[in-house]
Amino acid sequence: MDTRPFRSVLYIPGSKERALEKATGLAADAIIFDLEDAVAIDEKDNARNLLAEKLQALDYGARARLVRINALSSQWGRDDLEVIARARPEAILLPKVDEAAHIEELARLLDARPETAETRIWAMMESPLGVLNAPAIARAPRMAGFVMGTNDLAKDMGCRFRADRLPLMTALQLPLIAAKAAGIVAVDGVYNAFKDEDGLRAECAQGRDMGFDGKTLIHPAQLEIANQVFAPSEAEIDLARRQIAAFDAAQARGEGVAVVDGKIVENLHIVTAQQILAKAAAIAERMG
Ligand code: COA
Ligand code: MG
Repeated sequence: MDTRPFRSVLYIPGSKERALEKATGLAADAIIFDLEDAVAIDEKDNARNLLAEKLQALDYGARARLVRINALSSQWGRDDLEVIARARPEAILLPKVDEAAHIEELARLLDARPETAETRIWAMMESPLGVLNAPAIARAPRMAGFVMGTNDLAKDMGCRFRADRLPLMTALQLPLIAAKAAGIVAVDGVYNAFKDEDGLRAECAQGRDMGFDGKTLIHPAQLEIANQVFAPSEAEIDLARRQIAAFDAAQARGEGVAVVDGKIVENLHIVTAQQILAKAAAIAERMG
């Protein structure tokens, strides 16, 4: 399991030079450099060359770097991989993944090149078939994470956008559960109205409460809210510390259970408390 923070995962179109440069200083935990749907057909060739060059020339620091290529079944997918491999990407994000065979095909292509010996694979979960096959996809070779593609999902489901996302709930939760079972990262879909801060905050909170590690974002103005919402709060950190102290004290007395704030604290709560502290420490390290 990747223990780095993935609170904010920013999409950047591979064709936008200024945004690619700007991102070296943005507070994103991870970046998805996109060659797929954010890049117009006429720009596909330029974008992949520009991106390969920028990835080699610029320093993105500790930010996780994912490159979303076009589907291997498209006319651009193999060329994307060929050119991007030069930049030794840490991960390839594959769109429109319907079944584990799509991941296996990409894994074989990565196996065949020394530059991509260590490259991991992330999958877009954005089709009904992909959602139904999520458990097998999550366990396919090199898999490290799922990204929810909620716009594509809503399109294929024929469902409407609602603030509570009830129509999408099962399609969000099946891949999420599959990711947890396989021990890989899962990040939530984008919030399209990038000027609506309250709406973004509410949707981030919903994704966090469900168990997502973070949210994909389309604009730098969304970074701060996602970073805040997906980080443990001061109150959570304080409670985690008190639970661990109370549990240690109980054990020293020869007891297996403690009580904090009127609630029982057992072994399993200590696991959660330790995870909260580890996440807070990883975030503090990231923020320098
Ligand atoms: N990553 C990095 N920088 C970005 C950015 C992004 N996703 N989106 C905008 N910026 C930068 C711009 O370059 C601009 O920088 P500057 O002021 O230094 O020139 C600044 O942020 C402000 O941009 P703004 O004018 O508010 O945005 P816009 O109107 O030009 O573009 C979008 C709005 C939505 C088209 C643009 O944010 C975008 O392309 N987002 C990504 C879309 C995407 O990748 N979709 C695929 C997955 S859903
Ligand atoms: Mg998509």
